[in-house]
Amino acid sequence: MPKPQYHIFVCTNTRPPGHPKGSCGEKSSEELLMNLTMGLIERNLMGKAVVTGATCLGPCDRGTSVVIYPDGVWYQQVGETDIADILDQHIGKGEPVDRLRMPDDSWD
Ligand code: FES
Repeated sequence: MPKPQYHIFVCTNTRPPGHPKGSCGEKSSEELLMNLTMGLIERNLMGKAVVTGATCLGPCDRGTSVVIYPDGVWYQQVGETDIADILDQHIGKGEPVDRLRMPDDSWD
């Protein structure tokens, strides 16, 4: 397997129901991770990028949280309908999806 150009991290952290911070796992992030991987396979992009599940990435209230390296681009509230744009535009063309970008003040 060649060294991938991109690494997509998807938060799959799950907290107990009713936890005040909530979690990306409650928002079906495991399914998102699986479908991002399937999307890479369908597009023949597996050599270009890999997808890895992560524990809490930090900005829980913005989940499902996704970060793509080496660009360091953070995406918020990522759902199934965003997969095509992330894979075709960001991974395929190297153009981040601005409408999904997490604001820098998410870290304040
Ligand atoms: S639970 Fe996903 S960023 Fe914290």
